[in-house]
Amino acid sequence: MLRLENLTIEHENNPLGIDVESPRFGWVLWSDESDTFQTAYRIEISSVDTLICDSGKINSKKSIEVVISEFMPVAKTRYELSITVWDNHNSVANIEGHFEMGFMKTKWQSSWIEPVQRPTLPTKDLDQPLTEFEIVTEYNPDRDFTEFQPAQYIRIPYKVDKAIKKARVYLTAHGIYEFTINGITVSDRMFAPDNTSYHKILQYQTYDVSEVLSQGDNVFGIVVADGWWSGRIGATGDSCQYGDKVGILVQGEIEYEDGSIDIIDGKEGKSATGPIVFSDIFVGEKYDARLEKTGWDTPDYDDSDWNPVLIVEYPMSNLVGQYGGGVETIMSFDPKEIINTPEGDIVIDVGQVLAGQLEITLSSEEGRMIRFDHSEVLDKEGNFFNNILGVNKEQVLYYITKEGKQTYRSKFTFHGFRYVRVIGWPGELSVEDVRVHALSSRMQNIGSFHTSNEKINQLQSNIWWSQVSNTLSIPTDCPQRERAGWTGDIMVFAPTMNFNRQSNSFLTRWLANVRADQLKDGAVPMVVPYMKAYKSVSSIFGSETSCGWGDAIIQVPLSMYRSYGDKAALQDNYDAMKRWVLYIQDRAANNHPDDYDKWDLEHQNRSQYLWNTDFHYGDWLVPSMVLGNPDGGAMVETAFKTKGIVAPAYYAFSVKSISEVASILGNEEDVKYYDDLYEKIKYAFIDEYIDEDGIMSTDLQGIYVIALKNGLYTESLKTKLIQRLVQLIHENDDRLDTGFLSIPYLMDMLCQHGERALAYTLLYQTKCPSWLYEVEQGATTMWESWGAIGEDGTVSTYSYNHYAFGCIGDWLYREIGGLKIVEAGYEVFEISPDFSCGLNHVKLSLYTPYGFAKVEWVRKENEVTIIVEIPANTNAIVKIPGNQKRRIGSGRYEFSSIVENEGKIMVN
Ligand code: BGC
Repeated sequence: MLRLENLTIEHENNPLGIDVESPRFGWVLWSDESDTFQTAYRIEISSVDTLICDSGKINSKKSIEVVISEFMPVAKTRYELSITVWDNHNSVANIEGHFEMGFMKTKWQSSWIEPVQRPTLPTKDLDQPLTEFEIVTEYNPDRDFTEFQPAQYIRIPYKVDKAIKKARVYLTAHGIYEFTINGITVSDRMFAPDNTSYHKILQYQTYDVSEVLSQGDNVFGIVVADGWWSGRIGATGDSCQYGDKVGILVQGEIEYEDGSIDIIDGKEGKSATGPIVFSDIFVGEKYDARLEKTGWDTPDYDDSDWNPVLIVEYPMSNLVGQYGGGVETIMSFDPKEIINTPEGDIVIDVGQVLAGQLEITLSSEEGRMIRFDHSEVLDKEGNFFNNILGVNKEQVLYYITKEGKQTYRSKFTFHGFRYVRVIGWPGELSVEDVRVHALSSRMQNIGSFHTSNEKINQLQSNIWWSQVSNTLSIPTDCPQRERAGWTGDIMVFAPTMNFNRQSNSFLTRWLANVRADQLKDGAVPMVVPYMKAYKSVSSIFGSETSCGWGDAIIQVPLSMYRSYGDKAALQDNYDAMKRWVLYIQDRAANNHPDDYDKWDLEHQNRSQYLWNTDFHYGDWLVPSMVLGNPDGGAMVETAFKTKGIVAPAYYAFSVKSISEVASILGNEEDVKYYDDLYEKIKYAFIDEYIDEDGIMSTDLQGIYVIALKNGLYTESLKTKLIQRLVQLIHENDDRLDTGFLSIPYLMDMLCQHGERALAYTLLYQTKCPSWLYEVEQGATTMWESWGAIGEDGTVSTYSYNHYAFGCIGDWLYREIGGLKIVEAGYEVFEISPDFSCGLNHVKLSLYTPYGFAKVEWVRKENEVTIIVEIPANTNAIVKIPGNQKRRIGSGRYEFSSIVENEGKIMVN
């Protein structure tokens, strides 16, 4: 029997308000018969019971990324979608869904409205270059935050006096908002609109309110706060990145059964402030429950002392329909315990480092102030320790009680934390008084990886938690100190991210911002959305980009193509990739190191193929330079010590990768051009940086990894490079010494060059620095720096929630789980786990674009049983020792294998 499931439109189920000219459709086949393939499909699209588009029966096996070229969607129209599929067993199945278009560039009938308000004060003139980074080492406990803004409450009345056929509200804000109708929350979405490069891309959200509106009087209630628009964000904690006043743009469209249509534009709205005395997305909130305006968003409320809103003009060309999921609560649970610290503080231990919010319930007298300070770690003695320092990074909540029983959860702020110090709680605080809410952007969990080794399982859990904490609206470096879209971090982590959760729409949305923020000369900013604060930070280093970081524009779309078969990600970003490579070409050819004039002609000549100038973050955070030196200076040193060789090596990577993209897109002319360029870079690199004994001019593990990854060797040098890499690892006591730009490729390079056993030694290493060192220190997320907690238990002010070093996930799933992509989107994949990896049980499952692929193997002594599941419409190539290599179609299979134990480590 054939069944269809997971019908997607632009990778979402039944999306509302999308602004996409040619939406892509996808569906998943499921069959109880083995070897099932789609032989044909038919797509029918109708609107109001009229068939608009019928593809007819198309003989094709394509079930993902399907576009119907003759379908021209019309603004604000709802379409019913019906997919029929035929398979090779003569079965037929059908699935139905729907989607609705947004404005599609048609004109808005409403205008922006703003509450009467005091504008947010700019923390500094962000158009001026920054010369020094302000370091705060301690917070002022008496800071009153009076310069922060209150949230604004907006009431918009609307009367319904006829039967409603269909009602939609299109809404966005300068700031972030929460939307209710008659006191009822309209959606679970939080922090809307998402963090984008607002002046270029501002998303509006579409709400179906047909069932929410009542006959008679209604009130739209919208609370709006600073958010990423005017709040204090980024590394420097500066306000007013995009504007200094909050406001909203709302357009309600109510269609009645009698054919009439009403537009609600909010012009009659009124505004006031309420209990949220201040709200800043980074710092926190102050909530005075005594100021609550009970019933403010219901019709009977007396708003005679509220101010009429102001109608204001802003350009509307940046407006685009929401793409991908919004921020939501992904998990709620009770904290682990309440701790009385040696210093006498009361601290909630949530049990997990995360990005989220607390919800507290208490009974109190009126007017008591309770303070909550958030942190990710306790100090060596078990006392509260502020690990996130900087300007405007206090991570604090103030709650002032009303009389009686009450519940509070912040609305417009979140924190990166595990521990919360509570000051001023009435009576004894118990775990029952607290709920913990973890937040992230909505994405489907698609991957799971479990082994017989609890430490590896904890590592996987740590990777997952750092992923969800750092995919709150955009891909970020960390969810506390900066929360910035650092391009280098996602460049290295994307393949792992794509396995754990369905990240396609999330990354597509972010990449639109990368394109929008790409600089005129093709440079891809180090942070996207590229807020002013980072422009001013970049003036310290004299560069707005860096090798590896800017490569996100190539590597992220490539990862989406590989993981999800998303070719449009390559197409849509191809021009931007070319501009990025052109930028590098120009920097290499036309800018020279200081002593260039003293070089001989041959040296000068090869320099045009070497990106040997400019600032770069290089192999950021090389452990041997950072461990034991927790101040920012040591971090920057890793950049200066490695940038000179990493940038030219990454130039080769960019060119090699764009050639791969050109080849996938069928652009043979470009392939030839980039392959020629690559050869020139390669030989210039070898001549410049590798001596004949295979010693590189910067003799660090990571540099060998990057050279090997990019084929920067002659055949005779290759073995020498591997030998030196192995030697450096041994000299380092079999521990890591790789930074951001080399670690993603370290394990693969070892495996591909005959050093698999050493890769396992690194994997199971528990001395610092190593993955399992963190696990043994009790980590529940990935840390920014391996030694964030030292061997003697000393804690430092690093971030404890950075996903970058979690990029090993991708290697674990491929090499230990044994699931490897052969053709994009797992249309064809390989199953080849290594039973000698030191484990006796591994269970991996991935919901690919074609359905579930599963691999489970159990080793008892030298006997292995392996069970695999292949989704319909795909093929797997099975390579299992003792079995013939073979290609199989969908279904469930069991194999057995005898492994000769080659004397490798057995962990359990
Ligand atoms: C961030 C990183 C980022 C780096 C640039 C840091 O402050 O947290 O993850 O990529 O700066 O080198």
